[in-house]
Amino acid sequence: MRPAHAARLPSPKLLSQLDLLRRILKDPQPVLDELARSVGPVCGLGIGPMRLAIVGDPAVLRELFAKPNDSFRWNHRFNLLAVVVGPGSMIVSDGAEHKRRRSSVQSAFSRRRLNGWIPMIVEQTDSAIDDVLSSVDPAGEVVDMYRVGRLLVVEIVVRAMFGERLAGHAAEFGELFQRAQDYLEAPAYRQIPHRLPFTARARVGQDRRAFDAIVDEEIAHLRAEPTDDPLNVLASLVAQGDLTDGEIRDQVNSLIGAGYDTTSASLAWMLWRATLEPGLWARLGDEADAVFGRDQDGGSDSITLAHLDLANRVMRETLRLHPAGVVSPREAAVDVVVGGYSIPKGTVILWSAYLAGRNETAWTEPLSFNPDRFLDLTAEQREIANSSWVPFGGGARNCIGFALAQMELTLIIARMAQRLNLVPNTSKVPRPVGMVVNRPSGGAPMLATRRAKR
Ligand code: HEM
Repeated sequence: MRPAHAARLPSPKLLSQLDLLRRILKDPQPVLDELARSVGPVCGLGIGPMRLAIVGDPAVLRELFAKPNDSFRWNHRFNLLAVVVGPGSMIVSDGAEHKRRRSSVQSAFSRRRLNGWIPMIVEQTDSAIDDVLSSVDPAGEVVDMYRVGRLLVVEIVVRAMFGERLAGHAAEFGELFQRAQDYLEAPAYRQIPHRLPFTARARVGQDRRAFDAIVDEEIAHLRAEPTDDPLNVLASLVAQGDLTDGEIRDQVNSLIGAGYDTTSASLAWMLWRATLEPGLWARLGDEADAVFGRDQDGGSDSITLAHLDLANRVMRETLRLHPAGVVSPREAAVDVVVGGYSIPKGTVILWSAYLAGRNETAWTEPLSFNPDRFLDLTAEQREIANSSWVPFGGGARNCIGFALAQMELTLIIARMAQRLNLVPNTSKVPRPVGMVVNRPSGGAPMLATRRAKR
């Protein structure tokens, strides 16, 4: 029963709900815009087992993220990720098991290790830029920078997880995870569990076994010859001894899977926004010249990162408008009250970083791309901006890779702007695609040439 002090969620007209439900699970962004306009940023959709609550109001999200984890379930019927990440992954776990798995990984993501990855990220970015420059005509050639970014992000994440020893497997990991992404983005009916051979689902299972074999071999190697490599997450998980080998495999798979598509899609949106905004690419290049040093070979560290202020704001502004997860699902494990609304137990809550990032009360001219909006904020404005910028979620179940992702995106865009001239093949921001991960349709085709040294 609904608590006396809480209101029922506002909903669109019953007749339109079936169509909205069908569309939101396929192409969420236009439906979210429509619902926010016609009903508001918090609303209910559907009935019975197909009951959704959409939460996109920043103040209500603040309340949602502050609730204890056991008010919600992540291992619910809409969470189709287990087939890829494995049943022992923190992403599909709840309660004490989630806590144990997450805290084990958390200690592997120490600040020391994160800072230690900075030179490797810059080095890998340079190598990706060298590949672009050596493959295109000096007069310029169109390159899909989304593809370049995907290869780069997988190179970085494989080194962060395994150190240099498995770096040679990066392209193979890229392929294994690409097929998993394609499967997860396929219509929901194709993801219904079954054991039929020769299907996309069977292929995902085979890929997962191939992945496990590589990780198992590496775990055995680390036990036989423990490494003192301070950057290697897998070595840290093995040395801690808190997780079984199966759990370790599932966490490593989740970290690569959750970090790969999200970060590369965000990079593609950043490239679009930074190249389409007049003068911004040149400003980014100038900042990078000043911070990295003109000879482009100064060592990079956490101070380098801290000085890439414009690159950081471009990252924040892009993720405000184009969060990789437009909606993220969790199920209400009990009756929950947020923002004065009652959300009954069993409802699937789609909280939306996309709606929060475009909220008119929180942001001035929310649809305009303006990285300078984060400059010179009063304490009150900063508080509003922080709580309305939620591409990595919030509370105890936020993104565990948020610092790594922000670091990567800031360093990569800065280095690319320093060394490349990129001109997109259209003046329009592309249409978004993807239910699980929001990315620009058609990738990021851009005319690439070497940027002259200033
Ligand atoms: C731009 C890049 C990224 C974005 C936008 C992003 C976004 C998110 C969001 C919104 C959540 C929370 C979902 C919820 O409330 O249920 C999440 C969870 C998670 N993310 Fe990320 N993520 C990014 C990159 C990464 C990276 C680089 C890693 C790891 C290397 C990572 C690993 C994870 C994991 C393991 C979880 C599940 C945490 C848990 O269940 O406790 N993500 N991410």
